[in-house]
Amino acid sequence: MAELTYHAHASYSLSDGSHDLLFDPFITGNPLATISADDLNPDYILLTHGHGDHIGDAVPIARRSGATIIASFELANYCEAQGAETHDLGIGGAYTFPFGRVKLTQATHSSSITADDGTIVYLGNPAGIIVRFDGKTIYNTGDTGLFGDMALIGRLEKPDVVIMPIGDNYTMGIDDAVEAVRMIGAGTVIPVHYNTFPVIEQDPTEFVDKVGDLARCVVLKPGESVEL
Ligand code: NI
Ligand code: MN
Repeated sequence: MAELTYHAHASYSLSDGSHDLLFDPFITGNPLATISADDLNPDYILLTHGHGDHIGDAVPIARRSGATIIASFELANYCEAQGAETHDLGIGGAYTFPFGRVKLTQATHSSSITADDGTIVYLGNPAGIIVRFDGKTIYNTGDTGLFGDMALIGRLEKPDVVIMPIGDNYTMGIDDAVEAVRMIGAGTVIPVHYNTFPVIEQDPTEFVDKVGDLARCVVLKPGESVEL
């Protein structure tokens, strides 16, 4: 049984008892985090894009634990240059790892990091990540605005679970996320990327009400787990 543990913002772990995957580990500096980055020992770290609230502690965790970082080409190379083991993918491409298949999808967002001197370093395209894990297909849309090909992704990949932002300002807000749920058609939806900062404050019960019978909504508190 796959277990998902939420680490606040857009970060979570997936475990099937023998493989541990960590997504977008923004732990240090995350005001809602309930753990320390030192407590995480994943086998793989999967990154949707290079923004600081997603790459977070990925490189230090990877260097300590030996985890392989899975990300788009430029972001993987950026992490590798800092001493992490990586596997790079392109959008639309999939690869089967020992734990299951990973495919990157498009996301309408950006992907960059600001260097110490203020220069913006672009890290390729942002992505969504579809993982086939322990018999489930789990689609993490990444930070994204609404786009019509979510319906195509839903039809082709048939996700059981979708993890999507509802915080607005940087990503979809509640109403667009509800439309995304309708297009993707997954049975279970987990809202993320809200309430970490004042600018993305949202009431998840409004999302739950608006999703209605379109899907089962699972609202997790930081540190909480759910069996998928
Ligand atoms: Ni972002
Ligand atoms: Mn973000």
